[in-house]
Amino acid sequence: MGIFLVILSWTAMFLLFLVFILFLAYCLYVKHIHMKYDHIPGPPRDSFLFGHSATYLRATRSSKLIHDTFLEWAEIHGPVCRQNILHYIIILVTCPEGTKEVLMSSKYPKDRFFYKQLFNLFGQRFLGNGLVTAQDHEQWYKQRRIMDPAFSSLYLRGLISVFNERAEKLMTKLSDVADNEREASMLHLVNSLTLDVIAKVAFGVDLETLKDSSLFPQAVQTCLKGMLFSVRDKFFKFNPKNRPFIKEVREACHLLRTTGAQWIQARKTAMENGDDVPNDILTQIIKTAGKEESMTEEDEELMLDNFVTFFIAGHETTANQLAFCIMELTRLPDILEKVKKEVDDVIGMKQDITNEDLGKLIYLSQVLKETLRIYPTAPGTSRDVLEDIVIDGIHIPGGVTCFFSSYATGRMDKFFKDPLTFDPDRFHPDAPKPYYCYYPFALGPRSCLGKNFAQMEAKVVMAKLLQRFDFTLLPGQTFDLQDYGTLRPKSRVVCSVRRRNHKK
Ligand code: HEM
Repeated sequence: MGIFLVILSWTAMFLLFLVFILFLAYCLYVKHIHMKYDHIPGPPRDSFLFGHSATYLRATRSSKLIHDTFLEWAEIHGPVCRQNILHYIIILVTCPEGTKEVLMSSKYPKDRFFYKQLFNLFGQRFLGNGLVTAQDHEQWYKQRRIMDPAFSSLYLRGLISVFNERAEKLMTKLSDVADNEREASMLHLVNSLTLDVIAKVAFGVDLETLKDSSLFPQAVQTCLKGMLFSVRDKFFKFNPKNRPFIKEVREACHLLRTTGAQWIQARKTAMENGDDVPNDILTQIIKTAGKEESMTEEDEELMLDNFVTFFIAGHETTANQLAFCIMELTRLPDILEKVKKEVDDVIGMKQDITNEDLGKLIYLSQVLKETLRIYPTAPGTSRDVLEDIVIDGIHIPGGVTCFFSSYATGRMDKFFKDPLTFDPDRFHPDAPKPYYCYYPFALGPRSCLGKNFAQMEAKVVMAKLLQRFDFTLLPGQTFDLQDYGTLRPKSRVVCSVRRRNHKK
């Protein structure tokens, strides 16, 4: 027994010593990384080992927007700004040339550090290898090619009736709010609307979240919140206090994927029966998986990855853009009058908006673009740069992540004079185009597949809202942003709603 205890304590001491040596070796490695990259300007580290992660954590746990910190850092340290987390190096790039060089090329894959974390959420498969998160170029390209027809301009033009029909349901709801002199959270309402639109357009399903509050939209929200904590706070999962929330997130992911499996199966059955099925996103998702006889388990999972991807990518960002737009217009009477006049001139009192009408709503497009400049709802993107590169004259040894923030560049004086002033004329058709400093839909091969879809939807909804209603923000509403990974209006844009008086 005595000998056994002695052996045990020696083994424990040896293991402790080994851990200490490994820790020391790791610290030396971190030191080596510091020496390799410290010539790149950047803010002082919060700590030797964890680098700038304390700043990220503080922002996640407080109401400060981490993107404002990025903006401050870019202003102070210049267009190539280094950040450290353990042995990882992140370079915030805000110069147009560097942005163009990296984002426009397919040479630089999406960054492993960030996107891999969205493969699973707390151990439950989430976005997997779907379109947004796929890192392998071949795997991504195959999916994107198959998905393209569901986003061709011809196909999108055919969707105008669905956009009209769904947006009308929101108008009915708002008429009810206005007639009963009630208030409404516009963020909540447009969120339900865009969820219903993506369910209908992409998957042929009538979700009707504007009418009933089902578990599904709640699950989507829970996953978004889970994404934020899982990515930003590495220690979140270790805190026993967070277990109930983590369980909720896992269940929400599971609900999304099982719903996806049911909808995919229903569509496959319809296809097998020779039924007439639309050429929509769901049909394309099924095509990405290949032939039934050779379908692997991973093919099945990939279909679910894309199902979840389109639900997550395809509604919230548009809803937030709409909510920010309504919020801004409540405090800009001149711009509001001008955009209302355009809507009145183009669509008058008619209910159905046509594709031709959308082409004529030029000032409304400018307003929506300007909304995304100040409030880019998907604020940035990142790429792995594995080989040495020179950006803005600074040599960056390979092995870093380059981060591009449309939020930071959109609010920099050197790109947009008086950046906090909401001025749609910056996007006047005759104004010079912003040069690689405005990219709310990202840029290059991995830019947003749903850009035209989103802007068509946003235009139809805004045009109808402006045609029929006046909005006033309730007292106490702020213009602050909230970071959920995507950016949204913190006060949820709670408004009193009145029908417009067209007799004036
Ligand atoms: C205002 C609305 C939207 C904004 C601001 C937006 C923004 C973005 C951004 C910045 C990316 C790049 C993400 C990254 O690099 O991590 C992206 C990718 C993507 N978005 Fe959107 N998006 C919007 C609406 C939509 C809609 C409505 C859909 C689908 C119907 C959609 C589908 C996608 C897909 C599939 C990707 C991945 C593209 C790829 O890598 O091939 N988005 N979006």
